Amino acid sequence: MTHEQPLVGGMDARRPPVRTGDTVRRPAGSSRLAVRDLLLHLESVGFDGAPRFLGTDDQSREVLTWIDGDVPRPPYPGWAMTDRALADLGGLVRRLHEATATFRGTTADWSTEWSDPVGGSVICHNDLYPENVVFREGRVVALIDFAMAAPGRPLWDLAIAAETWGPLGDPDRRDQHPLNLDGVARFGVLARAYGLEPERAEELVDVVIQERAHATANIRAEIAGGNASWIRHWADAGGDERAAADDAWIARHRAALIRSARG
Ligand SMILES: Nc1ncnc2c1ncn2[C@@H]1O[C@H](COP(=O)(O)OP(=O)(O)OP(=O)(O)O)[C@@H](O)[C@H]1O
Ligand SMILES: [Mg+2]
Repeated sequence: MTHEQPLVGGMDARRPPVRTGDTVRRPAGSSRLAVRDLLLHLESVGFDGAPRFLGTDDQSREVLTWIDGDVPRPPYPGWAMTDRALADLGGLVRRLHEATATFRGTTADWSTEWSDPVGGSVICHNDLYPENVVFREGRVVALIDFAMAAPGRPLWDLAIAAETWGPLGDPDRRDQHPLNLDGVARFGVLARAYGLEPERAEELVDVVIQERAHATANIRAEIAGGNASWIRHWADAGGDERAAADDAWIARHRAALIRSARG
C-alpha cells in the first residue's frame, strides 16, 4: 500500500483528499456521478486542464490523476497573481466551457447550492479559487476540485473568477492578495483572455453582483443553520462588514469595470 498523504484543502478538514503516488483520492460528494461523467467527457474531447477520472476505490473515494505543479494558498503569492496567469486562467475557463458545451450527461446530481440559479448551456466549475488551480513555472495548467461544477451561464464562472482573482473589493481591507493588484484593470485582463464580447461587459458586472448576492444568501443560511465551518470561515473573511464594503466598492467602480471589460 502506497503512503497516503493528506492534502490541505477546503472547508471540511475532517476528511481531506489524499495523495497516493500519482493519484488523488477524494471523498466523493453528493455530485459524484455527474462529476465522474463530466471528467470522463473532458477526457474524451481532449481537454487537458482537469484531472482524469480513474475510478472509485474500496472506500468509495473517487480516484483522480495527480497533476504535478504548484497550487497557491492564501495569502496568495505574487507568482500566482500575475496578469499573465490571470490571462491563462481566462483562456482555460473558455476552453472548459467550450469542451462542456457538447456534454450530455445521463445523471444530473449536480451540486447546485452555489451554482447559477438561472442554469445554462455550459458546465461551470463554480469554485475558481486559486486553491483549485495548478501552476507550473508561473503558468496556469489545470483546474482541480470539480465537486461544485454544475450547469450555468458562462458569465457565472467568469464572475467568480473575477471576484477572487481581481480581486474585486475594497483594497483597504485586502488581506489575501498582493496590495498592488488593480482589480479594475484585471477585470479587463480576464474578460479579454476569455474572449468576452465587448457588448456583454455590463452583463458581466451584473452577474458579479448577482453571484455575490446568491453566495452571501447561502452563507447566511448556513450560518443561521449553525454550520460551524461557515461561521468560522465567514468571521475570518471579515463577515458582513467586509462583504458590504466590497459590494460598495463594486458599485462605485461599476462604470470603470464595464469600460475595462470592453477593452
Ligand atoms: N488532482 C490533483 N492534482 C494536484 N493537486 C491536487 C489534486 N487534487 C487535489 N490537489 C491538492 O489538494 C488540495 C485539496 O484538494 P481539493 O481542492 O480537491 O479538495 P478540497 O478543496 O478539500 O475539497 P472541497 O473544496 O470539496 O472541500 C488542492 O488545493 C491541491 O493543492
Ligand atoms: Mg479545493
